[in-house]
Amino acid sequence: MEDDSSSKYLVSKLLGLHTPFYRLRTLNKLFSLDSSLIYVKYEGINPTGTHKDRAARAHVARAIQLGRDTITVGTCGNYGAAISYFARLAGVRAVIFVPRSYENSRVDEIKRNGARVVFVDGTYEEAVMLSSRAAKANEWYDANPGNSTDQVSFEAYSSIAWEIIRDLGDAPFAVGVPVGNGTTLVGIYEGFRRAYREGLATRVPRLIAGTTSLGNQIAVSWSKGSTTPIPLSPSYVRETPINEPLVSYVSFNAEEALRAIYDTNGRVYAFSDEEMLEMSLMLKAVERIPVLPASVASLLALKSFIKEEEVDGSLVAVITGRWRKIKQ
Ligand SMILES: Cc1ncc(COP(=O)(O)O)c(C=O)c1O
Repeated sequence: MEDDSSSKYLVSKLLGLHTPFYRLRTLNKLFSLDSSLIYVKYEGINPTGTHKDRAARAHVARAIQLGRDTITVGTCGNYGAAISYFARLAGVRAVIFVPRSYENSRVDEIKRNGARVVFVDGTYEEAVMLSSRAAKANEWYDANPGNSTDQVSFEAYSSIAWEIIRDLGDAPFAVGVPVGNGTTLVGIYEGFRRAYREGLATRVPRLIAGTTSLGNQIAVSWSKGSTTPIPLSPSYVRETPINEPLVSYVSFNAEEALRAIYDTNGRVYAFSDEEMLEMSLMLKAVERIPVLPASVASLLALKSFIKEEEVDGSLVAVITGRWRKIKQ
């Protein structure tokens, strides 16, 4: 394996970020898993605390390659923090569109990173659309999901799959992913698919999406058995400080995410804020892993999956974000 092009590709994927991989010893017992093992791919140690750093770093690099001096994104916090952090490191200007209602510590962090913050009187989806429009008008690099630079994000998130394969020795039976736009899930899927094609894994895992029960386009489309995104109105969703990374009336990569879920015989499960909060507190208490509550939708999804399906191999939940106090 050492000298072929596949292993060179794998090695190149593994340079740079490599986040921890933990076995959940106590939760394994609580989930009553006998022969299968459950692991966490923990993205909280990334420079700004979430997996968004993977995509942000790649987009800033691409912006530089294309000779763009400004990068823009619409965000509810985490992605904007990541883009502004890597833009500052690289000396690229960042213009971050944020819904006014999201004024929080993440926005302060974006400003401290030297980015220009444009407050939008509207939703996250509107902030993304305004940011994309500004990119076109000003020839800025557009790092938003749902446009021609998507492949950069998918490629960046595919490194999560490669790292899991390296740590586990093969692809797991199923992977749980927290889902908002679906970008992360699609990237992870592409990584596993490529590893399988190149003979570096014996299977493509079943992709299990976890999201909020208060409105997500991928979850709604899935629950209605649709393979294409079902349009939702903004009033369909209810956003809270806990579910904001997951809630969406437009999931900008819904089409690709649904394809990945259907292709792998995956599932989508949706959870209340209380369920996510409770699981995040449990992870912190019994496994000593500090997390952002929304990200444990992945683990909750695997828990639901185990109840419904026969499991044949390891399970991995992608958990992201460091713990921070939620203002009520
Ligand atoms: C912590 C966290 N988890 C999950 C997600 C959802 O990721 P995606 O939009 O790629 O589905 C986000 C998105 O911002 C996030 O910040």
